[in-house]
Amino acid sequence: MAFYRQMGDIPKKRHTMFRKADGTLYREQVMGTKGFSGIQSILYHHHPPTAVSKAEVHAKFDIEFEEQGALRHRHLLTGGCADMGDAVDGRRYMLGNEDVLIAVANAAQSMDYYYRNGDGDELLFVHEGTGRVETMFGTLHYRPGDYIVIPIGTIYQVIPDEGVSKLLAVETNSWITTPKRYRNPHGQLLEHSPFCERDFRGPEQLDTHLECGEFEVRTKSRGFIHSHTFDHHPFDVVGWDGYLYPWIFNIGDFEPITGRIHMPPPIHQTFEGNNFVICSFVPRLYDYHPEGIPAPYFHSNVDSDEVLYYVKGNFMSRKGVTEGSITLHPSGIPHGPHPGKIEDSIGKKETMELAVMIDTFRPLRVVKQALQYEDDRYMYSWCAAPPETTPTV
Ligand SMILES: [Fe+2]
Repeated sequence: MAFYRQMGDIPKKRHTMFRKADGTLYREQVMGTKGFSGIQSILYHHHPPTAVSKAEVHAKFDIEFEEQGALRHRHLLTGGCADMGDAVDGRRYMLGNEDVLIAVANAAQSMDYYYRNGDGDELLFVHEGTGRVETMFGTLHYRPGDYIVIPIGTIYQVIPDEGVSKLLAVETNSWITTPKRYRNPHGQLLEHSPFCERDFRGPEQLDTHLECGEFEVRTKSRGFIHSHTFDHHPFDVVGWDGYLYPWIFNIGDFEPITGRIHMPPPIHQTFEGNNFVICSFVPRLYDYHPEGIPAPYFHSNVDSDEVLYYVKGNFMSRKGVTEGSITLHPSGIPHGPHPGKIEDSIGKKETMELAVMIDTFRPLRVVKQALQYEDDRYMYSWCAAPPETTPTV
């Protein structure tokens, strides 16, 4: 997040003596991206963040993808997924490539360990549920519609309130930022941006934990989940400042950009990373040209794969999708509105659809485990007379 923020106690000048009440020094940690050239924060710990008493491999992080079949549009009905443990261990991976992994989690339990993604930033979209994310930078409370951005290396724990937190997780190998075209050279959001600084929430409170004991921090890195044991609580930070910290943007605060004729998907863009973008489709007024067609035209994503996660409302161009549906329209073949949806959209004034779109610039693959949720007739749902049985792919 390119906005300066400070919480707790920090010394007047960086890299100078900063002492506890007993006269010993706090331990300063500079945490930054791009080899001291990207955004960073400076944290002050009670204990050295390097004081690990045990390092083990917890598990291999092995995602098994399906074999390539015929190129086709895909539909995964994730709404039927059962409640599945906690917000990290309970992730069910659906799609992925070298740049992103897309998973869903119906988190009914709190994590009983701490976690950090050592490969890249993570984004958690809250479909349903409330709770909190406790981090080394402080605590953030979440609610439906929140995009929670967790920077690489941030130690965190997700604690759902009573009930299930239904999450869409995007794990990356890069950084998640707002689109550059909406920022001036100083990083401030411009007037044509669909959101502004007032819409972002950082950590709300910083609780400094001084407990000692055994604390497991799991770290995802290099194809494995590693387990590091600390003899002190990992959230022992007394203060920090900088530009790197977890933050939240609620999709309800996305102010849609509309026009007289159909506007292209980049108007929905909310985030970007290396080789992907994330967009928000929110309730909005339709195009107002008297002869306009609000539904999108058929289109070919010549060099990008398009994923839609349906949150709620009737999606204007699709039939058969439900809350929690994920569709994948791959590059190489065109896609567009379902039969009848173009005609249906004419004369309509507004849509109440809510969806998250992830476009990737390298091909996605479907995770083998996700095939159990697939509607394998989706590819033929544009056909006037769909085949009786699903052809072998
Ligand atoms: Fe599309």
